[in-house]
Amino acid sequence: MIKRIGVLTGGGDCPGLNAVLRAVVKTAMVKYGYEVIGFRDGYRGLVMNDYMKFKPGDVSGILDKGGTILGTSNRDNPFSFRIEKDGKVEYKDLSERVMDNVSMLEIDGMILIGGDGTLTSARDFFSKGLKVVGVPKTIDNDLCSTQVTFGFMTAVETATEAIDKLHSTAESHHRVMILEVMGRYAGWIALEAGIAGGADVILIPEIPYDIDKVAKKIIERKNAGKGFSIVVVAEGAKSLDGQVVVRKVVSDSPDPVRLGGVGNKIADEIEKITGIETRVTVLGHLQRGGRPTPYDRILSTRYGVAAVEMLHEERFGVMVSLQGDEITCVSLEDAVGRLKTVAPDGELVRIAKSVGVGFGD
Ligand code: F6P
Repeated sequence: MIKRIGVLTGGGDCPGLNAVLRAVVKTAMVKYGYEVIGFRDGYRGLVMNDYMKFKPGDVSGILDKGGTILGTSNRDNPFSFRIEKDGKVEYKDLSERVMDNVSMLEIDGMILIGGDGTLTSARDFFSKGLKVVGVPKTIDNDLCSTQVTFGFMTAVETATEAIDKLHSTAESHHRVMILEVMGRYAGWIALEAGIAGGADVILIPEIPYDIDKVAKKIIERKNAGKGFSIVVVAEGAKSLDGQVVVRKVVSDSPDPVRLGGVGNKIADEIEKITGIETRVTVLGHLQRGGRPTPYDRILSTRYGVAAVEMLHEERFGVMVSLQGDEITCVSLEDAVGRLKTVAPDGELVRIAKSVGVGFGD
């Protein structure tokens, strides 16, 4: 019999986290009469026993709010937790401490909301005996066992709006405008926003680009009377040599590489080859902030309700997932460790090419 559940939000934030929390707390407290404990700042809260007891009013008015009222972290891995003592840094497995904290608080099941890193730890805690259910989150949409992660559609909308705005200034100044978007090693945001915004060139990690072909496309447009071009580039895009552009390395993060800078790199190259003035916009964390779209609010609510239902039905070690029109679940074991990337010959790439988009290939 479940009486008390725990919840946390881990990894980079994204629009819809609060909507999931609202759905979890309302379903758990109002429908089932459970108590809900929220751990602060992702796994850090579980390790440090930093938590709050939810009251139903705590989730009032948060459906449309970006971020997460619990806080989050994309640095803390409880299986290799960074500890600084007397100026020395070491990494320790504190997963047993987490197990003790959960049992001391008499928590009967945990809902862990996050991307691949958070869900990999969820799987590992399930192997240790913790009763967990995962919820798939990330603007990158790179989790393989669900059709869509919440947050992605909002990021695509933000990026599309940016492309729309760049269009008018690009056209007025007869310039090349480059928009660099997030997505890590997957090109979903660039591809979908690029198609929705009518980009002329889309560069994604899954299709290595030849800069001469990118420049050729821009020159062809100019010769056809279009003095401007819009290039959408994913932060993980790579040229034929296979090199990504790394902005920084966050050494204490489970996934330490932070991508960024490819927009500036290709801007210099395009300007040099074509002679057309080129400007860069790096959209950055704007894609992660702000109000979730109605689609993401609904998807987040569906995921949050389903996660509580899974705990109620004692179906542990699973991640809730969207398959077709239905919310179902998959085992965490199957859900983690494999990225969902864009198929270079998939339908979205093909329709983009049909309407004249260049991929630099
Ligand atoms: O995974 C989400 C994401 O926003 C990526 O698209 C991006 O590469 C990364 O996180 C940025 O991380 P940080 O917030 O640490 O800069």
